[in-house]
Amino acid sequence: MFTKRTIRDIDVEGKRVLMRADYNVPVENGRVMSDFRITQSLPTIKVLLEKNVRLIICSHLGRPEGRPDPKYSLKPVAEVLSDLLGQKVLFAKDCVGEETRKMVDELEPGQVLLLENLRFHPEEEANDDGFAKQLASYADVFVQDGFGVVHRAHASTDAITKHLPSVAGLLLEKEVDTITDVMSNPERPLAAVLGGAKIADKLEILHKLIDIADFVAIGGAMANTFLAAQGMKIGKSKYDPDELDLAREILEKAEEKARTSKFTFFLPHDGVVTTKLDKVAPTRLVDWDAAMISEVQHYPKKVPESAHTIAADEMLVDIGPLSAAFIAGGIQLARTVIWNGTLGITEIPALHGPIGPYARGTELLIDALTGTFGSRPFVVVGGGDTTGYIEQRQLTKAFNHVSTGGGASLELMAGRPLPGVEALRMTRG
Ligand code: 3PG
Repeated sequence: MFTKRTIRDIDVEGKRVLMRADYNVPVENGRVMSDFRITQSLPTIKVLLEKNVRLIICSHLGRPEGRPDPKYSLKPVAEVLSDLLGQKVLFAKDCVGEETRKMVDELEPGQVLLLENLRFHPEEEANDDGFAKQLASYADVFVQDGFGVVHRAHASTDAITKHLPSVAGLLLEKEVDTITDVMSNPERPLAAVLGGAKIADKLEILHKLIDIADFVAIGGAMANTFLAAQGMKIGKSKYDPDELDLAREILEKAEEKARTSKFTFFLPHDGVVTTKLDKVAPTRLVDWDAAMISEVQHYPKKVPESAHTIAADEMLVDIGPLSAAFIAGGIQLARTVIWNGTLGITEIPALHGPIGPYARGTELLIDALTGTFGSRPFVVVGGGDTTGYIEQRQLTKAFNHVSTGGGASLELMAGRPLPGVEALRMTRG
């Protein structure tokens, strides 16, 4: 249960409100490529506007390293927000300074002003108190609704709360409640599917999930590192040579749990390989389990080595169909699933249609998660690239909860305190 006060717990009628959103959205040539984070902030904005507040919204976009850079301007976000709200959202060309102060002073009840990227000033990431004070001077109340950024202690997530009564927005409350609930009190069996590249980025969550889940499956480049750690030849597949010891440590922990309880830790047994990352390059399946079959004396036919071996010039680009089916089966048995990371290289676009050449395994996973095979678990999708893929496939509504946070959702799942939530000192009751 979320213990901090939210916009529902205080009287904001007619006040000036400064809201921190996470509008760190992909922008290409001045166009917002995904509005998911913007749409997810609408419930809070709407409740505030119903209370006739003068609403000032601040956010970061990208990592402009403390200086203005038009590539990272929030102006295109103001346009999308105007369309979504059906009212003009004013835009301030800087988040501080005289001109911005004037725009804030002239704001009417019910109007919305979006400030330019906070990270155009180094003071934001330095958690600078003076900078926070300037932002705070615009408003009577601060609302934190940028879930995606509350794992950072920045001026607009931490220092600001020393200068204004500070409460949570509805998105922050929903994210924290849903993710905390799933981690602390899941309906069992609990399955977790983890993909993505680096083990180090997900180390804590891997440990945590091995502790609490009944079934953990690994895919993506992360699986390659585990396979390499087991001594398998993976050709020129992407993996992290510095993480082999970490992988062995995790494997040991998982194997120990599997020995002593009803627990499955699943690494792929087959995969799709190619020699070139290209949508038209030929692919083939390699089933490394077949190596064991070929060792069975009475098996009538020798399995050719190429069927179970990845060649030196080949790389793994997707999980194989047998492994994807095994994971889909595990999901059929689960009541709750946590999913973070695609199972193959999903960013290579298709020659035709919406599904990329190396996205088949991820698509089978999505089918299983969304009830195509009958049972339908409660699914939480943990942000970042996974959310990006689901958005691109226009499937965000097919899951119970799709997080707007990448790092923030991982840290919350791992049980780490989030500075931007801790800083909200006003608690309920
Ligand atoms: C995110 O996209 O994860 C958040 O907006 C935080 O961005 P950051 O990693 O640049 O702090």
